Amino acid sequence: MISVPGFRARLRPFLIGLFAAALSVATFAATPDATPATGPSWLDKLGRNFDKSSLGRVGALGPNEQDPEVAAPAPKDGSWLRAGFGVRGADLFRFTCRACHGAAGRGMPPEILPLLPLVQATSAEWQKQQGEGAAGRAQLAEKLLQHQITAGGRSMPGFNFLAADESEALLGYLERFSGVADPKHADHTVQLPVDRVGEVIVKGTCQTCHDAAAASGIRATSSQIPPLAGMTASYPVGLFVAGARHRGQHGPNGKGPELNYLRDQELKAAYFYLAAYPPR
Ligand code: HEC
Ligand code: HEC
Repeated sequence: MISVPGFRARLRPFLIGLFAAALSVATFAATPDATPATGPSWLDKLGRNFDKSSLGRVGALGPNEQDPEVAAPAPKDGSWLRAGFGVRGADLFRFTCRACHGAAGRGMPPEILPLLPLVQATSAEWQKQQGEGAAGRAQLAEKLLQHQITAGGRSMPGFNFLAADESEALLGYLERFSGVADPKHADHTVQLPVDRVGEVIVKGTCQTCHDAAAASGIRATSSQIPPLAGMTASYPVGLFVAGARHRGQHGPNGKGPELNYLRDQELKAAYFYLAAYPPR
């Protein structure tokens, strides 16, 4: 027979263990639930003609300065399906920014502005060289930068779906790559499930050009770009990955961007996401 106090003494470490286990999965649990891609492409929303715009196509143009920075090593087996991806700021940049701003963030002026100047302006050290009121100007730039990312701009979509730890890693990466001397954000590895990586790639890259679902009624622009809905039914995963490289053998014009900077596993994650959360 165990006495009640003795039982409590044994129960306590067990409860503490349970609590610690709950804490250790907290990073994964902080990932927001995935939601399907919806609505028209960003090009269609802007009413901009694909042939006359650089939006979504700059990332694959050389030189590829970012490539040595790519943090996540390519998984060699299928373990990524279970473990998900260890994603750093450089990877989030590839998934959400590189398509328009390019590997080095230069963009394609005048349509796509370079992103480095605004990141640089968030540095109080850099502002000191420009004169009085450095701290205030740095704070204002930080607000503008975060607003640009969450709300977008005239021709830039907003990325309000990024979770706090994802934004933090991305901002840390942007600071480092812009040579900010007094960084305020920490680049770090965020462990993301496969569906989240697929979601971020689809919403951050593919939806610039591809509508979520075929539009009913008359479209703002007539594009020959197939909608994302139905893609997983039309293509087995291998052909989808090849198709997303847009090398022109299949499509009507072969004009899509080569997207050589997204790994096979990452494009497969996009496929699984599209299959599991049908676009509408
Ligand atoms: C679909 C294309 C597109 C994507 C994707 C994109 N941008 Fe932009 N970005 C633009 C365009 C276009 C501009 C020019 C200003 C405007 O029209 O909003 C711009 C401007 C900027 C600027 C400069 C603002 C200024 O006033 O100096 C920053 C900083 C920036 N983007 C950051 C980012 C970051 C960070 C990401 C990834 C999370 C990103 N952008 C993804 C198109 C894009
Ligand atoms: C800059 C615009 C643009 C972006 C960004 C883009 N695509 Fe495309 N995509 C196109 C165009 C245009 C076509 C039509 C075929 C062609 O011209 O290559 C196409 C066709 C496709 C096809 C059909 C290819 C075929 O051979 O029939 C697939 C699959 C595809 N895209 C997947 C993706 C995925 C996945 C992403 C995101 C990772 C993506 N695309 C991002 C423009 C884009």
